[in-house]
Amino acid sequence: MRESCIELTKEQQAYRDGDAGLELQLATETLIRYGKAFSAERLVPIVSAHLAGSFAISAYSGYYELFDRLVAAGVRVRVPTTVNPHPGHDYSLPNRWLVFRRQEHHERQLERLGVMLNFSCVCYYEANVPRFGDILGWAESSAVIYANSVIGARTNRHSIMIDVCMAVTGWTPDFGLLQDEHRKGDVLVKLDVDEMDACAVGYLVGRRLVNKVPVLTHYPFDATELKNMGAAMAAAGGIGLFHVVGATPEAPTLDAVFHREPEETITITQQDLDALRLERSQQAEAGMIVFGCPQMTLEEVQQIGRHFVGKKVKRRVLFHVVPSALTQLRELPLHNQLIEAGVELYRHCPLASLSLRFGGGRILTPSGKLHYYLQDADYGNLDDALRIAGVR
Ligand code: F3S
Repeated sequence: MRESCIELTKEQQAYRDGDAGLELQLATETLIRYGKAFSAERLVPIVSAHLAGSFAISAYSGYYELFDRLVAAGVRVRVPTTVNPHPGHDYSLPNRWLVFRRQEHHERQLERLGVMLNFSCVCYYEANVPRFGDILGWAESSAVIYANSVIGARTNRHSIMIDVCMAVTGWTPDFGLLQDEHRKGDVLVKLDVDEMDACAVGYLVGRRLVNKVPVLTHYPFDATELKNMGAAMAAAGGIGLFHVVGATPEAPTLDAVFHREPEETITITQQDLDALRLERSQQAEAGMIVFGCPQMTLEEVQQIGRHFVGKKVKRRVLFHVVPSALTQLRELPLHNQLIEAGVELYRHCPLASLSLRFGGGRILTPSGKLHYYLQDADYGNLDDALRIAGVR
């Protein structure tokens, strides 16, 4: 790979020289080396950061030591910075005593660094809302793809640690999805479906078009569908940006979104969607139905929750909700109606909390992302999930 030469501003050079302290010198040097690996030629200012590292997993000890150093040196984030969900460290004893033993310590570190403790991967819902064209330094693939595709902001898919370096310096290397030429469509995706299932579409597009920019022909997806479809696409295919012609901001027309002929055209059919769903007979064996990966917004809880009102669930049903949305939900009659129906309401990340568990049976989920990452999570569309839950 060709190594680029990064041109620094005076301030960036001063940081690199250590004028702002050793910790910020190391953070700047890390971003420079990261940028060089991707042929970036400059570091550019970011409007906000989002950190994926909200979990205190013992195996990441070096990461938490870095935080200790930053906090001891009095470093604070330089741009508004949000953070991913709680891992559910208090969800079970194995989580509490084996996996996330230092969770409280890490949350104190985040607070002292000046991070907004929103604890949500749906940071763009309320806490950290970008505008079209904003340059961001975000980790968390589901948030990155939403910001790029639905809002038209610009961020690459960054990793844990790089996200911290961007938050404390306020810069990101200029490459990839920050640049116009990498935001055009690669592959045209036609939809030939009778019963739309956006999550399944996202999952299948991800599996077939790894690292591409897919362009979907118009379908009136709502914000919840775009959130869940993008998350599945990002998980299954490493995709950071998609377009929907006539719906997302950089795709007013087919001509505008492709700078050349599509390199390929694929069609997702109803049979493709149905094939992803677990057989009906096997669905009935699910021990729990899990919603909310990414976490559910208030609108999503209302859309899905109405099916549970006045009913009793026949399986464990878990909703994972954006914490601020859960606070708002508590003010509504729906909150108690869900509790009376037997729905369990959580505010953490289901992938983290359910990864280590004993018993409880297999999971059925309408989340493409959870299905991709969690070994014993089978996929069912929303109708399947409601039917097995016993409310349809
Ligand atoms: Fe969010 Fe956890 Fe799913 S971070 S996207 S709820 S894996």
